[in-house]
Amino acid sequence: MNYRSFGRTGWQVSEISFGAWALGADWGYVSEEDALDALHAALDQGINFIDTADVYGDGRSERLIAQVIKERSEQIYVATKAGRRLNPHIAPAYNRENLTAFVERSLKNLDVEALDLLQLHCPPTEVYYMPETFAALDDLTQAGKIKYYGVSVEKVEEAIKAMEFPNVQSVQIIFNIFRQRPAELFFQLAEQKQVGILARVPLASGLLSGKMSRQTTFTDDDHRNYNRHGEAFDVGETFSGVDYESGLEVVERLRPLVPQGATMAQFALRWILMFDAVSCAIPGAKNRRQAVDNAQAAGLPALSDETMAQIRAIYDTAVREQVHQRW
Ligand SMILES: NC(=O)c1ccc[n+]([C@@H]2O[C@H](COP(=O)([O-])OP(=O)(O)OC[C@H]3O[C@@H](n4cnc5c(N)ncnc54)[C@H](OP(=O)(O)O)[C@@H]3O)[C@@H](O)[C@H]2O)c1
Repeated sequence: MNYRSFGRTGWQVSEISFGAWALGADWGYVSEEDALDALHAALDQGINFIDTADVYGDGRSERLIAQVIKERSEQIYVATKAGRRLNPHIAPAYNRENLTAFVERSLKNLDVEALDLLQLHCPPTEVYYMPETFAALDDLTQAGKIKYYGVSVEKVEEAIKAMEFPNVQSVQIIFNIFRQRPAELFFQLAEQKQVGILARVPLASGLLSGKMSRQTTFTDDDHRNYNRHGEAFDVGETFSGVDYESGLEVVERLRPLVPQGATMAQFALRWILMFDAVSCAIPGAKNRRQAVDNAQAAGLPALSDETMAQIRAIYDTAVREQVHQRW
């Protein structure tokens, strides 16, 4: 595993880290045994950063992480998120009272004195124009309830606006072969401001693992079934907002570029690591096999300039129109 610095925190985080959404819910059934095993396998590979949220399985993901951390002795950073328990999910509700209550609940679930990193969980865009929300986060930091805070965003513009608040340490954004716009301006600005970047949905919800086909089915409780057209939350979170069938075609164009001996998931993750501004990619994994496969992407040699150019050309011709100006 290789480690990268994370914003101005002084942390060194594994460049492949772990996304723990599926250990909570929304991805079909994941047994407790598989969830715990996936986390231990990831940590055994040198992963030291885990991303979760209070809403993933209504706290299940946070509680499983807490259980695993108790059994380990190494330094492990856990980033959680707050805001999505709000109903209705509206900007004014990102206030001191609600944020404090969410933090208290995550502290209990994770069984810690202070949260390592609290991220606003894709709030409405107006929140980035509400200094009082960030002042409340500053106060929670002062009070010792959170060590650092950051944001998880849908859009590049939100990422750029969020970085105007000086204590935002990190931005989590969708970045993968199907979502290349963050690399244009945002990465440059984040590097200047020393803001950490978490590349989420790095496998385009599994599509970029190359294992899916027109025949693949997803259970009713899997967002790749129930949110395919954005019925439940932002459509960009499911297959990165790329139409499933055309995504499959793009995967076939990418397949010949996968280096010998590597899996397509590793290739997709290695592409993300080619960008120095990225602190870590946070692929989700539902079992030990996926966790190990993903972690080992860090050991792959750098992709050649030619391969990078070919990937860009495929994006420009077959993906760009669907996503580039939307997020
Ligand atoms: N709003 C937000 O802040 C937000 C939104 C989305 C995600 N996130 C974070 O980002 C993390 C990663 O994104 P994601 O989980 O949505 O998507 P992802 O990492 O692109 O895809 C994860 C899924 O791909 C499949 N997979 C993983 N590794 C594989 C491998 N090596 N080979 C084959 N298949 C593999 C698994 O599902 P199957 O086996 O069922 O195919 C897994 O659940 C989340 O866990 C979460 O922590 C945050």
